[in-house]
Amino acid sequence: MTSSVEKVLLQIALDLSTDLSKGHHYQKLIDSVKQVLPCDAGALFVLNDKGLLKPVAVSGLSGTVLGLTFVPELHPRLQAILTSRKPVRFDADSELPDPFDGLLESAPDKVIDVHDCMGCSLYVEDKLVGILTLDALDVGAFDNVDPITVETFAALAAATLRNTVLFEALQESNRQQKSVNQLLIEQARSKEGKLVGISPQMQRLRDSICVVANTDYAVLISGETGTGKELVAHALHEQSARADKPMVYINCAALPESLAESELFGHVKGAFTGANANRAGKFEMADGGTLFLDEIGELPLHLQAKLLRVIQQGEVQRVGADRNLLVDVRIIVATNRNLEQEVAEGRFRADLYHRLNVFPIFIPPLRERDGDIPVLAGHILDRVRRQFNLHNLHIHPSCLSRLESFPWPGNVRELEHTLMRAGLRVIQQGNDVIRLMHLGIDEVVPEAKVVTGSPLPGETVPMREQVELFQKRLIEHALEQCDGVWAQAAKFLQMDRGNLYRMGKKLGVK
Ligand SMILES: Nc1ncnc2c1ncn2[C@@H]1O[C@H](COP(=O)(O)OP(=O)(O)OP(=O)(O)O)[C@@H](O)[C@H]1O
Ligand SMILES: [Mg+2]
Repeated sequence: MTSSVEKVLLQIALDLSTDLSKGHHYQKLIDSVKQVLPCDAGALFVLNDKGLLKPVAVSGLSGTVLGLTFVPELHPRLQAILTSRKPVRFDADSELPDPFDGLLESAPDKVIDVHDCMGCSLYVEDKLVGILTLDALDVGAFDNVDPITVETFAALAAATLRNTVLFEALQESNRQQKSVNQLLIEQARSKEGKLVGISPQMQRLRDSICVVANTDYAVLISGETGTGKELVAHALHEQSARADKPMVYINCAALPESLAESELFGHVKGAFTGANANRAGKFEMADGGTLFLDEIGELPLHLQAKLLRVIQQGEVQRVGADRNLLVDVRIIVATNRNLEQEVAEGRFRADLYHRLNVFPIFIPPLRERDGDIPVLAGHILDRVRRQFNLHNLHIHPSCLSRLESFPWPGNVRELEHTLMRAGLRVIQQGNDVIRLMHLGIDEVVPEAKVVTGSPLPGETVPMREQVELFQKRLIEHALEQCDGVWAQAAKFLQMDRGNLYRMGKKLGVK
């Protein structure tokens, strides 16, 4: 090998590890081949997974070649090169057609029937990845070419192909990962929506969120089921400086006992049976962002200890790993348990509780919020209308007052489900007003409750008069709920329509 050849090869080898992103490698390589070997044209092909040859760089050939795809079976020369592990040289008078006939820049009109032609297959770790071809118009041009030089080029070309393909695959998967993340964030946002409510309690809640969002304090959100704890956690993240980073969700109640540690902290390959690859845990995924530990009250005691250590040290150790990784994570937790009581009863670690409870946010139950129910109902109906493309869907005023007096043990979630079900019933009936009978909540509050709720007399009274008075009020109430329709009022009171009508008249109900 001459020293100028060595220099060119060295340059290619150095180029291999730099500037991959610019995508000039193939061209550089083929240009250097022409510099060193006595040829008029060179082409580098990638073999794709369909078995087709795709030129990725050419020199001395028409640029149109880069737009072609070659089926090896139709091009005996290419096929011969592909199927040989050694460089292949074709006789100058070989009968085999040349795939570049008419495409040579220096002889555009000629069928190059007499010329020198050679090529070699490119292997990376025993995998065929492409071929390199060289053509020279001078017969005998390749007579003095050192086979080692050609093989060295082939090795470099193969490495270039492999690096570029790997790099592109990485770039592609990175791009894909980014767009998946973006999509997930957007989906989560549109799904979570905004905190609706005009009550002073909700206003205070919004103020608290605003105050603490932009700090890195741990926040403990508590409240009954369905009060909106998850919604508040999302609002905290969205209003924080970490909003463009992930908020990673963990449901502590659903952590499988055996995999919990690996879920949270990750593991290294071989750490346990089934650990086939390194895997990042939720803590690492949330790095730079927020980790939301939902239902924290359900976290088993031994994991509470591990969690405490990670929070204290700001470092996680993957299961089976011998070094720690620094993580920068803001912690938000939620629970519908009374954690203080859990601590008192030994089910929750006091030290962890104090770490998490830096800024407590309590969401009051729906029944205690003044004025939220009508606004929430409007908000929910709006969604139902949009879902079913309806213009009109309303709540009857008597029905709304029923919603306002109902205790809602399942809070906003229960209100949501009740109204969505009611909306569906109304749509099914071709109506557009939700009435009491559509709600289906009276089964939950039996009438007995209403009866025991009535004031009892403090002095002596005639029984019959009192009973009749109550009956009259009950009928009036039922009629009010049912828009004055006797048939529906009868259903409401679960009695015969005729009997109700007669009783009403007798008691003087208008
Ligand atoms: N203030 C609110 N405005 C609008 N929607 C709300 C509000 N509060 C709760 N919701 C809705 O109610 C449902 C329940 O809320 P969320 O899942 O946040 O409750 P939770 O407190 O986490 O309940 P659980 O303890 O059962 O997990 C969700 O669909 C949520 O969008
Ligand atoms: Mg929740």
